[in-house]
Amino acid sequence: MTLAAMATKLMRAVQYNSYGGGASGLKHVEVPVPTPKKGEILLKLEAATMNPVDWRIQKGKMRPFFPPKFPHIPATDVAGEVVEVGKGVQKFKPGDKVVAYLTLANGGGLAEFVTASESLTVARPPEVSAAQGAGLPIAGLTALQALTQAAGLNLDGSGQKKNILITAASGGVGQYAVQLAKLGNTHVTATCGARNIEFIKSLGADEVLDYKTPEGAALISPSGRKYDIAVHCAITGIPWSTFKPNLSANGKVINITPGPSTWAAIAQNTLTFSKKQLVPLLLWAKSENLDYLVKLVKEGKLKTVIDSKHPLSKAEDAWAKSIDGHATGKIIVEP
Ligand SMILES: NC(=O)c1ccc[n+]([C@@H]2O[C@H](COP(=O)([O-])OP(=O)(O)OC[C@H]3O[C@@H](n4cnc5c(N)ncnc54)[C@H](OP(=O)(O)O)[C@@H]3O)[C@@H](O)[C@H]2O)c1
Repeated sequence: MTLAAMATKLMRAVQYNSYGGGASGLKHVEVPVPTPKKGEILLKLEAATMNPVDWRIQKGKMRPFFPPKFPHIPATDVAGEVVEVGKGVQKFKPGDKVVAYLTLANGGGLAEFVTASESLTVARPPEVSAAQGAGLPIAGLTALQALTQAAGLNLDGSGQKKNILITAASGGVGQYAVQLAKLGNTHVTATCGARNIEFIKSLGADEVLDYKTPEGAALISPSGRKYDIAVHCAITGIPWSTFKPNLSANGKVINITPGPSTWAAIAQNTLTFSKKQLVPLLLWAKSENLDYLVKLVKEGKLKTVIDSKHPLSKAEDAWAKSIDGHATGKIIVEP
């Protein structure tokens, strides 16, 4: 081994070497600290958050695209401090605190250090803790994209009042969707489990349905409202036939968990010229939107609801908790 190689700095990381295996497929390893390439920054991580897509990739649900190779260090949503910058980086310098989206192809969040693209990294002011910031990339950006780009809601309170339904309001995406929807001129109906009803009201929801009751399962608004927009975040599918009778004449369901039945319903709506629409959504991460969310957190208009915090040495607990599907808010891993 050369002297240079011996001097290579190692870091702790958690990775998997093949598809499947769940939490027990994760391995604790020591690997070299990555070097930032052109347009990249090296971050010393302070927090990463779990998203269901992390374990879906491990399950092989997104093969052959993700992960592009094994071993793979998972997790895409992080906050940390810049320690080194690659060539051409202009926005950041060592010592800056940031939030970054690492992309599904790269991952790398379950580690002590990671390289991030400058273009998907935003500054994090002191008012925004690492855990608050790390929750935002996938879950916050998806909630924002669903409400603004897909549903056309203004988050400055302007525009006609809209009735909005948010399913799985206690989940990572849903908790942001409730808070963001209430920044607009809205009446928000949310669904969650019985244990979270009061909590979701405290986030601003006007009425909350227990999804395990008959009314909740049927998505019927307690105040008799018809929904102009539904943001469907529940990982368990809810058929179009359940949404449809609860929508206003031009009501729209934004489905962030589309499955085969979604595409069949969309085809049927097209053939019947239905004014009620079902729209699938795939996140398109943009740094200006991430910056906007960080500013909302700084201004106290948005918060990341934290389900639990786990040290990197117990990352498999965070992984298992996400697979279990009953988190209230975001699951955090701290190096
Ligand atoms: N399209 C995209 O680009 C995109 C982006 C982000 C996420 N997603 C997907 O969106 C889904 C949600 O993500 P997430 O991060 O919010 O998941 P999550 O945090 O794991 O969601 C867990 C929460 O969902 C609640 N829940 C489950 N089924 C429900 C139902 N039928 N009605 C009401 N609440 C229900 C659970 O409540 P209980 O504990 O009470 O059961 C729990 O609080 C996942 O499938 C994810 O992959 C897609």
